[in-house]
Amino acid sequence: MASVGQVIFWSIIILIFIVAALIIILLCVAFAPRQASTVQTGEPFPVGNLGNDVLLDCEFDPSPANGKKAADASVTWTKDGLPGVVYLYENRAPQLQDQNPLFKDMAQVFPDAVANGNASLLLRSVITEDAGTYRCSVVAPSSQGTVTVNLRVAAFSAPSFSETNGTLTAVAQKWFPEPNVTWSNRNGSTLNATTSLSNNSMGIFRVVTTLSDPLQLDSIYICTIQNSLVRSVTQATVEGTDIFTNTLFSFSSASSAMIPGQALVLVPLLLGWLLC
Ligand SMILES: *[C@@H]1O[C@H](CO)[C@@H](O)[C@H](O)[C@H]1NC(C)=O
Ligand SMILES: *[C@@H]1O[C@H](CO)[C@@H](O)[C@H](O)[C@H]1NC(C)=O
Ligand SMILES: *[C@@H]1O[C@H](CO)[C@@H](O)[C@H](O)[C@H]1NC(C)=O
Ligand SMILES: *[C@@H]1O[C@H](CO)[C@@H](O)[C@H](O)[C@H]1NC(C)=O
Ligand SMILES: *[C@@H]1O[C@H](CO)[C@@H](O)[C@H](O)[C@H]1NC(C)=O
Ligand SMILES: *[C@@H]1O[C@H](CO)[C@@H](O)[C@H](O)[C@H]1NC(C)=O
Repeated sequence: MASVGQVIFWSIIILIFIVAALIIILLCVAFAPRQASTVQTGEPFPVGNLGNDVLLDCEFDPSPANGKKAADASVTWTKDGLPGVVYLYENRAPQLQDQNPLFKDMAQVFPDAVANGNASLLLRSVITEDAGTYRCSVVAPSSQGTVTVNLRVAAFSAPSFSETNGTLTAVAQKWFPEPNVTWSNRNGSTLNATTSLSNNSMGIFRVVTTLSDPLQLDSIYICTIQNSLVRSVTQATVEGTDIFTNTLFSFSSASSAMIPGQALVLVPLLLGWLLC
């Protein structure tokens, strides 16, 4: 005769196994091989620059089938949390009866591009409220599927350089969210600088940064301005009284910004996938 304690013990063990089995089944369902989606995006996490246009990339297999061509594809762009469509292209024409008014005259799909399997959406003159999750759904002769594009909105501009009072000053007109600034020399050593940020009524920051040490002629300075979304690295080459600059922008992708906590959640997910 088993004692009450033993019954409880084994019940708990069995319960744990049942829950574990359920979790594995759930994971198996979630990761079950689906028909490979032929709708893709080359840029799932674009960053738009306030006031500028941004392209949300969406591509599909343009092969014709059953007498239909890629140009006959239906392309539907929606934004999570908003009623209506951002843009609908169907029967070789824009169908905007159900377009959300926020996107009136602000969004566009290119018919010529659709004929080549390019269903990308152009958003004009982006504002902060445009940030969010967009979905591109395509029904084409040889492909069908939906792809998600996460638009983030920032403000960024390349700095311009000048010599003031024997030192180098860089001014960048618009940055958002709030950036920080670092300087280094050709060797990668950090240089001291004084940086001031002023924000306008829209919360956009103007950056003014001045190197502490006097300017050396014929040398290279690297000024990095960055926030959580954008990093601009400018190489300023001083030659006599001339300053030549070259700026490269790079953007954070949400996946590389993954924090360790999220990685921990991924471990059991991965295990479940391996077990299936
Ligand atoms: C898709 O079409 C748009 C508009 O013509 C173009 O700007 C973009 O570069 C195209 N994308 C690709 C991957 O060709
Ligand atoms: C230029 O440098 C001098 C000496 O360091 C300082 O007194 C002066 O305020 C500086 N002027 C500007 C515009 O920074
Ligand atoms: C860079 O490093 C080299 C060798 O380490 C040194 O000679 C040079 O002075 C350094 N230049 C600067 C600008 O710090
Ligand atoms: C930068 O400033 C700090 C504190 O003012 C000082 O200790 C340091 O030596 C400076 N570095 C350079 C490279 O001038
Ligand atoms: C400007 O920045 C200050 C300090 O960082 C902040 O308190 C203020 O709310 C900002 N103003 C705007 C309009 O964002
Ligand atoms: C500057 O901003 C970047 C991006 O937000 C951050 O990773 C970095 O730690 C910041 N650096 C400093 C010195 O605050």
